[in-house]
Amino acid sequence: MRAWLALTALLHLASVQFGSAEGPPDSPLLAAANSSLLWGTYRPGLYFGLKARVPDSLLTGLIWFGVHDWQSYNQARHECDQRDGLKYSFTEHDGRGAAKEVIRDPLNNVKLTIRWVKVAGSRETDGGSWAMRIEGEPLDSNQLSRIALLNYFGNDGALGSLHLENALLEEGLEGAAQLDGFAGGIGKYTIRIEDHESNAPVEPGPHGADFGDRLARTQFLGLTVPPGAAWQAKKAILNTVSTRARTLLSSYDQSNPPDPALLFALPNQANSDATMFAFQKTYEGRWGVDIFFDAQDSPARLDCEWWLTVRALLSALLDGELTSTLRADASLSAALDASSFAYQQRFDSLFPQIASSFSGRQREFAHAITANLIGGIGHWSGPSIVDRSFSQEWDADSSGSAPAKSPQLTAPRELFSATPSRSFFPRGFYWDEGFHLALIGAWDNDLSLEIFRSWMSLADEDGWIAREQILGDEARSRVPEDFQAQYPSYANPPTLIMGLTGFVARLQEAGISIASSVDDQMTFDADATTSSPSTLGSLYLSSQPLAASYLHSIYPTLKRHYEWFRRTQKGAIRQFGRRARSSTEAYRWRGRTADHVLTSGLDDYPRAVPPHLGELHVDLASWMGFFARTMRDVSEFLSEEEDFEDYEEQYEAIVGNIEDLHWSEDEQMYCDVSVDEDDESYHVCHRGYVSLFPFLLSLLPADSPHLGATLELLRDPEQLWSPYGLRSLSKSHPLFGQGENYWRGPIWIQMNYLALTALNKKYASEPGPYQTRAAEIYAELRKNVIDNVYQEWERTGTVWEHDPFTGWTSLVTLIMAEQYY
Ligand SMILES: *[C@@H]1O[C@H](CO)[C@@H](O)[C@H](O)[C@H]1NC(C)=O
Repeated sequence: MRAWLALTALLHLASVQFGSAEGPPDSPLLAAANSSLLWGTYRPGLYFGLKARVPDSLLTGLIWFGVHDWQSYNQARHECDQRDGLKYSFTEHDGRGAAKEVIRDPLNNVKLTIRWVKVAGSRETDGGSWAMRIEGEPLDSNQLSRIALLNYFGNDGALGSLHLENALLEEGLEGAAQLDGFAGGIGKYTIRIEDHESNAPVEPGPHGADFGDRLARTQFLGLTVPPGAAWQAKKAILNTVSTRARTLLSSYDQSNPPDPALLFALPNQANSDATMFAFQKTYEGRWGVDIFFDAQDSPARLDCEWWLTVRALLSALLDGELTSTLRADASLSAALDASSFAYQQRFDSLFPQIASSFSGRQREFAHAITANLIGGIGHWSGPSIVDRSFSQEWDADSSGSAPAKSPQLTAPRELFSATPSRSFFPRGFYWDEGFHLALIGAWDNDLSLEIFRSWMSLADEDGWIAREQILGDEARSRVPEDFQAQYPSYANPPTLIMGLTGFVARLQEAGISIASSVDDQMTFDADATTSSPSTLGSLYLSSQPLAASYLHSIYPTLKRHYEWFRRTQKGAIRQFGRRARSSTEAYRWRGRTADHVLTSGLDDYPRAVPPHLGELHVDLASWMGFFARTMRDVSEFLSEEEDFEDYEEQYEAIVGNIEDLHWSEDEQMYCDVSVDEDDESYHVCHRGYVSLFPFLLSLLPADSPHLGATLELLRDPEQLWSPYGLRSLSKSHPLFGQGENYWRGPIWIQMNYLALTALNKKYASEPGPYQTRAAEIYAELRKNVIDNVYQEWERTGTVWEHDPFTGWTSLVTLIMAEQYY
């Protein structure tokens, strides 16, 4: 049985060809690619949770607690929470159909390994079926490890049903639990939970005789949960468990209660109209359980021919290593092993430099941070909160009086996005996302484009995209109320656009250029389609018309978004008697307060004191140069000639104005600008990241007379240089390490990534007076950054910002691979 799962091997090792060679070549493949993203680990804020990429559908989640004593019940695990003291990370994740996560829970003395694989459905539009295996073992084998494991499944929409197939017995379910259901967006399905035969029986302790053979059975609960409330599963389920435990306890002597495994258990009850089911099993020592989700539209059946093909393929590919495990009853094992093998292979082929120049342990590190970034991708839906009336005192362009706050709920929206941190920030952040897309795009180009498209869909009619996306009640439950509202005049660095710069760079690498004529055939290389494991992840790199169709689909919104930045964040030039070659291209962050410019992303970095309406910010001007350059490249690809000329002109104007307005000859650095009491414009110079921006974004020509001073500032150990990476603020600055100390010294990985990108792609590779110096600095900085993050991972089991952070910290993979976008 279940041998069909080994079909996964085909998906991952040889990528099934979905469409026929005839017919419109894009539609079946694109549909297959899209549906390969239907199911995923899209609840990254949980230790493990699955959902479909549609609103109001089926959710799954995992809860566990120790039952070796009476206290561990209070340590039930569900949402990623740093206070739990767990170490957890995906160690493999291909973004479409296979994942592996390892979780270490010392307080409950258990190590969980969760593996998940998906098989495509029979039609291109089917989301497919999936299976997961959860295995547990003691972390410390000298101590008891007894775990209550709960899996829940909840239909979250008004449309949907769930039906438990087993006979409902008071003592619990015998054998495998089986649910039949229906949910919006995914159709009919069956879920089956099968224990491993090798699991050891759990012997009940005190008062075991009162409970029959319950520990050998699956305990269950069927609850009726209103649509949109399934995310509160843990609360609802554990409330029921606690209520039952209290009632039970009252009939025992307090000094001699029943075994906690019997006490803290589901009541074996189900409402007839239940929309959520939870199943609980108690395990001891080493154990395993498999869960199968069969979509009814993509029937899973053992097909002899398929099976033989899979066997043949595996044995050929794996040199017979795996064939011994390919017994029919071990097909899930075979599929899981094949997926792991495929993950390593794909990693090595995409990042050959990591495979060739790093140790086995460092490669594991790169796998884990990449996989956890991809495992951090989620899907959210629901309303958010926007305040269209509020603005800060220094935002007002005329009156100066700021209206009162008036937050409003918006219409529901959807977002498909990566996340900075699964425990602290399990939602979309605009400023982080571009960095996420740099690595995601290198792994799976089309996945990064889907995410980019989703972000673009959030732009309002003015082109504004809120910088923090808190969609729906679940996301909101994790954000303090004061930080929930978003303001339509506030920006964040337009790093999101890196998702496109990466795409354009990959198109160039693939030899796909502007010039291809419109009637160019969309040709898919049949061999490439059948042999590349990442076909579904690079369809948009396979032909010019397809690439253009993607860019056309987002282009109008992209333009609106760019114009929103130019309009709402523009700065004053002439009013303060400043001289610059362009009278329009200067910029100022809105949303600043006396001590913070949160919108700049560089929160507490020192700026002009006091704030002034006439300020100009060199980091924002540089970001706008980067944005204009990307718009230029995209419009060129699309042969939008007039736009191309406009963007080129704007780019040149920005770069020129950075020299005219922001370079301080006295200080030999780039500086912000403000206005003094006599209405005179002056430079605001604080040595740190802000001074580097024109360099960081490669806006300076390689022969710029200001490059030398910039490199020396960066390389000076008394200023920005440290053995761990570049500091945000000079060590010699009076504010170094002061106050909250976010951007007053600490090393930020994404900024080091930008510096390495500029050095590698431009200043060390283009001829110029500083080429040799740039190459030396590049090599040293690269080593320092890699060593620093790797050593922290070895020491603590995770990578960090202030908090565990596999968002942009995972850029270290690209740094190791020397792939910069
Ligand atoms: C892609 O799949 C999503 C659901 O995962 C669906 O909402 C969307 O319409 C699909 N897009 C296309 C172009 O088929």
